[in-house]
Amino acid sequence: MTHAYWPLLDLRLTLGDLELAPLVEADLAEVVRLLPADLELNPTATRFTVDEPTHHGIVVHQEYWRSYGTWTIQAWRFHLAVRRDGELLGLQELEGNEFPTLRTVDTSSWLVESARGAGIGKAMRRAVLALAFDHLGAQAAITSAWHDNHASLGVSRSLGYRPNGESLLARGDGVDTLVHLRMTLADWRSAGGAPDVSVTGVPEALPLFGLSGSLP
Ligand SMILES: CC(C)(COP(=O)(O)OP(=O)(O)OC[C@H]1O[C@@H](n2cnc3c(N)ncnc32)[C@H](O)[C@@H]1OP(=O)(O)O)[C@@H](O)C(=O)NCCC(=O)NCCS
Repeated sequence: MTHAYWPLLDLRLTLGDLELAPLVEADLAEVVRLLPADLELNPTATRFTVDEPTHHGIVVHQEYWRSYGTWTIQAWRFHLAVRRDGELLGLQELEGNEFPTLRTVDTSSWLVESARGAGIGKAMRRAVLALAFDHLGAQAAITSAWHDNHASLGVSRSLGYRPNGESLLARGDGVDTLVHLRMTLADWRSAGGAPDVSVTGVPEALPLFGLSGSLP
């Protein structure tokens, strides 16, 4: 263990030639440089008097610091940097609210445009689902995407998530439909799980999730 006080940073997920590692501050300049133009950033982020690219960079930094700085057992979220041969391809987020009680995780992700449409979105989601279901004791995973985000919905449906309702939400100046999906542990197992995903560094990080060494 190299991060005695924040052992989360020693987590590693590998799947084929992809490696997922919790984001560290040294990744941020690269993340800002690669941020896709179509990514919707947090609309409630503070807008300082700066140009748009600088605003994007500030949001990335503040969300990174908020993620670890406000982490509690009841509410945690973190991004994993997805790399192939050291090259950053995107970020995969994993989030849990009241996780020791609800045993439910939420996810979101993005990839650089050149890496899309080749199955990497599915692979990185499977990697964090393996962490959640097989190592943290999750009972369900949920996710949401705008009705016209076919790639994101495609990842979820293809992995075995089921419909979990819709919400009408304000989006820009109008109203749009957010589609919700949910996968249970039974769905995960019947879809075959992820025996090809290797996960290391979990036992040391369990206290951060409010979990002990033995999972239910
Ligand atoms: C969402 C995202 C991470 C998905 O990654 P990806 O690598 O492009 O997706 P994959 O190649 O793994 O494909 C996923 C599935 O969706 C399907 N799919 C992809 N694009 C699709 C489209 N336009 N219409 C229908 N299905 C589509 C694929 O066929 C595949 O399913 P299959 O394996 O059963 O054929 C990526 O597209 C992205 O970064 N988008 C921009 C950011 C974003 O919107 N993030 C989600 C916010 S909720």
